[in-house]
Amino acid sequence: MCERFHALERVRFCNSGTEANVFAVGAARAFTGRSDILVVDGAYHGGVLAFRGESPLNVPYPTHRVIYNDVQAAVERIEALGGELAAVLVEPMIGAGGCIPADGAFLRGLREATRETGALLIFDEVMTSRLTAGGLQGYHRITPDLVTFGKYLGGGLTFGAFGGRAGIMERFDPGRADSWAHAGTFNNNILTMTAGYVSLSEVYTPEAADAFFERGNDFRASLAQAVAAIDAPVQITGLGSMMAFHFAHQAPSAPGGARQIPPGLYELIHLDMIERGQFYARRGMINLALPTTDAALDAFRAALTDTLEVRAPIIRQLVG
Ligand SMILES: Cc1ncc(COP(=O)(O)O)c(C=O)c1O
Repeated sequence: MCERFHALERVRFCNSGTEANVFAVGAARAFTGRSDILVVDGAYHGGVLAFRGESPLNVPYPTHRVIYNDVQAAVERIEALGGELAAVLVEPMIGAGGCIPADGAFLRGLREATRETGALLIFDEVMTSRLTAGGLQGYHRITPDLVTFGKYLGGGLTFGAFGGRAGIMERFDPGRADSWAHAGTFNNNILTMTAGYVSLSEVYTPEAADAFFERGNDFRASLAQAVAAIDAPVQITGLGSMMAFHFAHQAPSAPGGARQIPPGLYELIHLDMIERGQFYARRGMINLALPTTDAALDAFRAALTDTLEVRAPIIRQLVG
């Protein structure tokens, strides 16, 4: 992982993406001696770090929200919070919130503003690390202070990891008298570590990751082209093997736009697609898996195009 993801000088293993984010935010608060965190409205960072609406189950950090890709507002907020702000937690492409890529300028603005105020920049790459060999930190050539991981990196077993700057991570060194405890019964468990090592070194190699990214981009472009020919307001967003469709006249630059759409529309299309033998996440999210064949991708595109054509009148009516 440290060879692949350039921001990782040190890494520690845990058991889920949620846990990785809780440890990363906790480390940022302990390291800076500050309390507050800044997140993006509509972002999902785990079961206790969910920022769509208000969740009574969230970790009770003093939390501020900004709109994804609104660089000016985000920088102003970071500067205004100054010495109160411990960390900015952000996905370099919003995943569950609709596969909305970040502008490079947005991420660079967060990097520069946090560096100036002394807050830590945390990239949640739980989902996006699969995009290219070096994740989106590599794609954008931006070095966050901390990064979190999960999902496929455990080779299909339960997994989480967090890491980054040595000067922060070495505070976990158990040899230190004042070390931060990172306890967990199944941290580093041999089964996950072995499956993860084999999957990264033999299956999802850097070459495989880059090729999969290109394959996803090609598929998304072909899907967007097919959908554009339909007389209905549907947009496809994403990067590489992660994409989503939105009922909108323009591709959204932040989560939330789809909220005005009656949820029944997403359910209807989802059920139509299941009827045609196709499955994706109901909110419109499509993730490709490595073994997916070209024939399967063609069949998915044909089914979605057919579904949207059949439902075009109701989509036009609901979206306006
Ligand atoms: C961006 C992001 N962060 C964190 C998580 C939480 O990971 P886990 O489900 O392993 O706790 C998820 C899960 O979907 C995620 O998409």
